[in-house]
Amino acid sequence: MGKKLSKRLQAIADLVPAGAFLADVGSDHAYLPISLIESGKISYAQAIDNKMGPFLRMKANVAEARLESHIVLSRSDGISDIRPDVNCIVLAGIGGLLACDLLEAHPEKLPSVSHIIVDPHRDLRSVRARVSALGYEIEDEKMVREDKIYYSIIRFKKCAVPPRYSDEQLNFGPILIQRMEPIFLDFIEEQRKKVNALLNGPALPKERRAYVLRVYRSCSKLLKQGGRL
Ligand SMILES: C[S@@+](CC[C@H](N)C(=O)[O-])C[C@H]1O[C@@H](n2cnc3c(N)ncnc32)[C@H](O)[C@@H]1O
Repeated sequence: MGKKLSKRLQAIADLVPAGAFLADVGSDHAYLPISLIESGKISYAQAIDNKMGPFLRMKANVAEARLESHIVLSRSDGISDIRPDVNCIVLAGIGGLLACDLLEAHPEKLPSVSHIIVDPHRDLRSVRARVSALGYEIEDEKMVREDKIYYSIIRFKKCAVPPRYSDEQLNFGPILIQRMEPIFLDFIEEQRKKVNALLNGPALPKERRAYVLRVYRSCSKLLKQGGRL
């Protein structure tokens, strides 16, 4: 049996559609595909990493789980080598901006990819905007806190015309805003404190200050909606 997934990886696993052919980019230890296959949620996956150490680690773990006929291993960069039957890509633990760079580098690999899942803890606005611009909408979002870090796990679904998200939706997540769960409100409280410190710190350039002020007001509005202010 594979290792028990961390809270963050389990939340990602929960968002993988049942029956998907998964490409786990930056797989490192391959815990995610191993767990998903052992649980019966999916049958096949490709585990991808561009470095030798992690590649050998994935290989050893997949062999130990006796899943060589279910998990294809690939030592390659990003999505450059994804198999044509992959329909769901997870890019986790590699940073949101790198995840976007890797997707944008190979748009020709995306037509058959119905779902993309990312787990950024920063640059959330850019990630939501850049992945949507590739022809996807935000279908589901989950927030988890691990090692004192809030991760927004976002599942994008291919769509004909990507929605135009508001500033607030790009910053904080359309689904997270709708659900207003306690963990989301905790996160907004933390963001509001950070933004407040910026506003009260050394003078910011005019445009930056205006943007930070908008984010502060947005946090206050959300906290009021959630009954925390
Ligand atoms: C911190 S681990 C994340 C492991 C796992 N995905 C998780 O979320 O726990 C990041 C992995 O991404 C790999 N990586 C970084 N850049 C990559 C790239 N351009 N293509 C493929 N893998 C990459 C690293 O070698 C490393 O093994």
